[in-house]
Amino acid sequence: MLTVHDVREILLNRDYSHSTLTALLETNGEALQTLFDEAEAYRRNVSGTRVYFRGLVELSNICAKDCFYCGVRCSNRSVQRYTLSLEEVVEAARFAHRNGFASMVLQSGERADKRFVDMVAELLQAIHIATRGELHITLSMGEQSRETFQRWYDLGAHRYLLRIEASVPDLYLRLHPEDGKHRYEHRIESLHLLKDIGYQTGTGVMIGLPFQDTAHLASDLLFFRELDIDMVGMGPYIEHDQTPLFQYRHLIPSTEERFWLSMKMVAILRLMMPDINIAATTAMQAIREGGREFALKVGANVVMPNLTPTRYRENYLLYKDKPGTAQDAEDTTENLTRMIHAARLEVALGEWGDSTHYQKRLIQ
Ligand code: 5AD
Repeated sequence: MLTVHDVREILLNRDYSHSTLTALLETNGEALQTLFDEAEAYRRNVSGTRVYFRGLVELSNICAKDCFYCGVRCSNRSVQRYTLSLEEVVEAARFAHRNGFASMVLQSGERADKRFVDMVAELLQAIHIATRGELHITLSMGEQSRETFQRWYDLGAHRYLLRIEASVPDLYLRLHPEDGKHRYEHRIESLHLLKDIGYQTGTGVMIGLPFQDTAHLASDLLFFRELDIDMVGMGPYIEHDQTPLFQYRHLIPSTEERFWLSMKMVAILRLMMPDINIAATTAMQAIREGGREFALKVGANVVMPNLTPTRYRENYLLYKDKPGTAQDAEDTTENLTRMIHAARLEVALGEWGDSTHYQKRLIQ
C-alpha cells in the first residue's frame, strides 16, 4: 500500500508508469485523500476552474449492436424503440443555445444504414440554421465509415465521442459478442479516423466491470495518453438485469468501491492530462448521490444536462436507476450551477469549451 509520502513522490515526479498507476488506483485512507487533494489543487492551478455545459440529447435507442453490458442492446426485446423527430431535436438545440450551453451532444444507438446517416446529416443542417451556427455539436453514434465521419464533420460536427469501453483487448472481447460486428481493432481504427479527419476526439471506459482489475484500469489511463485524446467520458459500470453480463454481478465491486474507483480514475487522469476535457458523467451520479459534484472537485470540467424530451427517457436505460429519467428537475441549469458553485468552481456559459489539448494539437 502506498503511503502519503509515496503518493506525493509519484505525483511530483510525474511517474505514471503502469505499476505506479495500478498502485495509485489501490490507495485508500490518508494516501487516497492526498491523491484527491493534489488532484484538486492541480486542477485549480493548472487546468482552471471553469466547467462547461453540454446539452445531451438521446436521439434514438435503436441499435444494431449487442454489447453484453448495455440495456438497449438489439437483443433486448423489452425495450420500446424510438427516434426523436427533427423538430424535437431542433427544439432541444434551441434550448441549449438559449441557455448559453454553447454545445450539445447528440447520442444514439449505433446504426450505419443510409437512412440513419442521412437523418443525422439533416439534423446537423437544421441545428446549424436554427442556432446560426453558434451551437457546437458533439456526436456519439458509434463506429461509422470514413465517408460518414467526414460528411458529418463537413456539416459542422466538431467533436466525436467513441468509448473504447475497455482498452485491453481480452477484456473487450469478454464484453462484446464475436459476431463480426464488434471488433476491437475496428474501434481503434475508428478513433484514428476521427482524429485524422480533425474531430476533437473523445473516448472512455466503464469502471468496475466483471473480469476487470486495477491493472486493466491503469492500462486504460495509459491508453488515453497514448492516443493523445482530447476528451474523456467514463463512469462506473452499473448492472442491468436484461443483459448477459448480469449473470456475473457477483464478480463486480460494491457500488461504494465502483464509485471511489471512478473518482480515482478522474483524479489521476486530470493529473496525467491537465488540458483535456473530462466529463462528470450521469453514471457517476447514478451510483452515488453527489457523485458528479465530487468528480468535478477532483478534476472533471464538463457536465451534460439531459435535454431528451422526458417521455422518451425511460426507454434509454443503458443501466437501471438512471437519474433524471422521470423528470427534468434534477438537471436544471439552476441546480447544476448551484452544484458547480458548491464545488468552488465557475460556470462557463456562452463558451464553446474546446479542450485546450485539442487547440495545442492543431498548432503542432
Ligand atoms: N453501465 C454503465 N455504462 C454503460 N454504458 C452502456 N451500458 C452501461 C452500463 N450497464 C455506457 C457505455 C456506452 C455509453 C453510451 O453508455 O460506455 O458507451
